[in-house]
Amino acid sequence: MSSEFHPQTIIEPFKIKTVEPLYLRTRKQRGEALKKAKFNLFKLDSQDVLIDLLTDSGTSAMSAAQWAEILKGDEAYAGSESFQFFEKTIRDLTGYKCILPTHQGRAAERLLFSALAAQNTQKKKLKIPSNSHFDTTRANLESLGFEGLDFPCEEFFDSQSDFRFKGNMDLQKLENFLKQTPRDQIAVGFCTITNNSCGGQPVSFENIKKVAELYRKFKVPFYLDACRFAENSAFIQKFEMPSETPESIAKKIFALADGATFSAKKDALVNIGGFLATNDQNITEDLTSLLILSEGFPTYGGLAGRDLAAIAQGLKEILDPSYLDYRLAVTQYIGKKLDELKIPYLRPAGGHAIYLDAKKFCEHLKWNHYPGQALVLALYLEGGIRSCEIGSVMFGRQADGSEKAHAAELVRLAIPRRVYTQSHMDYVLEVLAFVFAKRHEISAVSILKEPKQLRHFSSEFSWSML
Ligand code: F0G
Repeated sequence: MSSEFHPQTIIEPFKIKTVEPLYLRTRKQRGEALKKAKFNLFKLDSQDVLIDLLTDSGTSAMSAAQWAEILKGDEAYAGSESFQFFEKTIRDLTGYKCILPTHQGRAAERLLFSALAAQNTQKKKLKIPSNSHFDTTRANLESLGFEGLDFPCEEFFDSQSDFRFKGNMDLQKLENFLKQTPRDQIAVGFCTITNNSCGGQPVSFENIKKVAELYRKFKVPFYLDACRFAENSAFIQKFEMPSETPESIAKKIFALADGATFSAKKDALVNIGGFLATNDQNITEDLTSLLILSEGFPTYGGLAGRDLAAIAQGLKEILDPSYLDYRLAVTQYIGKKLDELKIPYLRPAGGHAIYLDAKKFCEHLKWNHYPGQALVLALYLEGGIRSCEIGSVMFGRQADGSEKAHAAELVRLAIPRRVYTQSHMDYVLEVLAFVFAKRHEISAVSILKEPKQLRHFSSEFSWSML
């Protein structure tokens, strides 16, 4: 043949060895399940869900090589071979000196903020800036007496702009903050990659570099919330640094910071785990003591040896360019189809999720009819899809007890890694098109019962559509 074949289709770069069943329920059965769950999808039995897009966290399919590592796991209490594999893999990738395993990301956050709080002998309310803190990160730092500040970039607020790095930090706002705030009132600085609270949007390398320069100039230690570092690196490779590999970009990003908190449930392709890594020797001893107190001995930290080995193997697989090409192709594929269907979503498509714009989708519903929750319920009722409201249900209740509209009413469709095929995504699109066509019939939601905190997890709702 004279010419080489260059496929246009980006295929799933894996084949399936183990499968688990999906159960097809009828609309009537789903209606019953909704009533039983008090119209809160966190209360559904997973067998009643057909396509589960509630989160991409801890929901990955592991590879045969990861399952092999699970069998090989060394369960010695101290100094296990699995820990050595874990530590070496993370050190090679990040370059950080101290690496502490934790049972998930928020445990790493709690560890870091607890150690910083212990060093804050004057008990001042110290500040921690970021592009955007994730909600558990914010909850953790606030519960330890810190104040979290978010400086997302201006472009993020224009939902129709196709600016590629909407996860960026607003550099001017960060600089003003650093200039105006005495150094002894800032604990550490953060940057979240990708920016989950802002649509799973990536942060450009140039932005991370400038953020690092600013933190350095003002002598503020810089930590990455690096859960989705590989997806962020893939965006940078695609749109900013095409001659680099995702791996070389990831290494350059880690080299810009002094440490990282990490939930392995995302870009380490495992179902549980995390770590805290740092170069700061002043804090290492405190962190290690706290780890022993709350998680476990420093060579297992709340995990089994086999979990550590699976994380290390996952970190090797996640930076495979063909995996990352496929991963970004999934959300881009959905985004393109949504454009064709004129279904409103936060553009451009993010890395791990699509965020539907429920305010526009359900234009007839006011914020206190909870359009996001109403859309979540409609997608489940019509198609068995479980998604997550990120709007006035999640964020509407204020600390003083009042309620106000959240800035955006979004529905997140988070895509688990290596779990669903393209036909599953086509099915999701078909459901979305169906629900969009009869969107005016989606009725209001009201809250019947809510807890004091984090109400989206356990509130009970009523919904006039059923
Ligand atoms: N940071 C970010 C950016 C996250 O997205 C998450 C979790 C965490 C920290 C905490 O990690 O769950 O291992 O304790 N995000 C999940 C989600 C829960 O659905 O987006 P964890």
